[in-house]
Amino acid sequence: RGMMVDPARHFIPIKDLKKFVDMMAYYKFNKLHVHLTDNQGWRLPVPGYPRLQSVASKRTESFGDGIPHEGMYTKKELKDLVAYCAARGIEVIPEIDVPGHNQALHAAYPEFFCFPKPDMKVRTVAGNSRELVCPQKPEVWKFYAAVFKELKDIFPSSTVHLGGDEAPTELWKKCPLCREARTKAGMKDEQEQMRAFFANMTALLNKNGQTPQFWYEGNAGIYHPGETVYAWRQDQARQAIEKTKKAGLNLIMASNEYCYLDFPQFPGQYNWGWMQTTPLQKCYELDPAFGKSAAEAGHIRGVHAPVWAEHLPDLNHLLYRVYPRAMALAEAGWSPMEVRSWENFQRKVADHRSFVLKRFNYDLKRTKDNEPPFRWENKK
Ligand code: ACM
Ligand code: ZN
Repeated sequence: RGMMVDPARHFIPIKDLKKFVDMMAYYKFNKLHVHLTDNQGWRLPVPGYPRLQSVASKRTESFGDGIPHEGMYTKKELKDLVAYCAARGIEVIPEIDVPGHNQALHAAYPEFFCFPKPDMKVRTVAGNSRELVCPQKPEVWKFYAAVFKELKDIFPSSTVHLGGDEAPTELWKKCPLCREARTKAGMKDEQEQMRAFFANMTALLNKNGQTPQFWYEGNAGIYHPGETVYAWRQDQARQAIEKTKKAGLNLIMASNEYCYLDFPQFPGQYNWGWMQTTPLQKCYELDPAFGKSAAEAGHIRGVHAPVWAEHLPDLNHLLYRVYPRAMALAEAGWSPMEVRSWENFQRKVADHRSFVLKRFNYDLKRTKDNEPPFRWENKK
């Protein structure tokens, strides 16, 4: 029963994360997944790599607003967060996204990439980049060994989320070092190179007693039996359940049409031109097994709510989008389908309204982009 926060896109100070965690704990979520790195920022300091702080943790602006944005946790702060979560029964799972989603890393250390671009800047808008770290460069492996060691020092969890999502392989295809390596190893394409890359990353983690998780990208063959992946792409959950079962993988359900809590809750709420409106009732309708039997879906380990933050600049925005929908996903994680009732759930949500508002104690003023304050309507 997890939630993911995204301080890479908009930095979330630890004091705000603690407020977020208080509410998670109340609704009995037990995994906090922290997406620490992305194109728009890198938030984990790593000894020996000072440009993570001086370059990768800063960007000049967000979506043309002209306002510089930056943020880096300290090791002490992250340990404090881990202890705070542990006291509330929550395990913290860090994510370091590889090989893609790495424009901020490229800005700091271009030499890690197939085609280094010294003038690369930390990304200031949403969307992905084509840059993947180059598996043929020894300095890349030295770097990730240092990253994983630091994670091991900070996070008692043996799980490290390695991302693996949205990694276009066109630059691996062109890179002379990657091409030579594929030929030498007899690999038929870049997907085989991806499988080997994940295997080598996993071996590096295993040295510390850590194991990986990944965003599932539809090709179960690039992961290894026993690993855990997250179904996230729209309308791919059923297929993901079947394919991961066959491949001997564990699955966590985070299908975006039910679980992405940065999507708008209400018709007319901002959707930045593409996000589908996902009302409370839609979230509530999530059956994590998608109607499949225990035999077909017994490898599903839980329900997960990612809260991407390209467009959520502060805690106010974050909580506004997450509640009350997180309650629906908490119930999906806790209660078998046969005891769930939308009518009953609506009554519970109404009962919780004043409690949650008091507990948040947050600023209910209109948010920067003029969204209305906290609303609880359940209209589809
Ligand atoms: C994802 O939304 N890129 C996992
Ligand atoms: Zn390369």
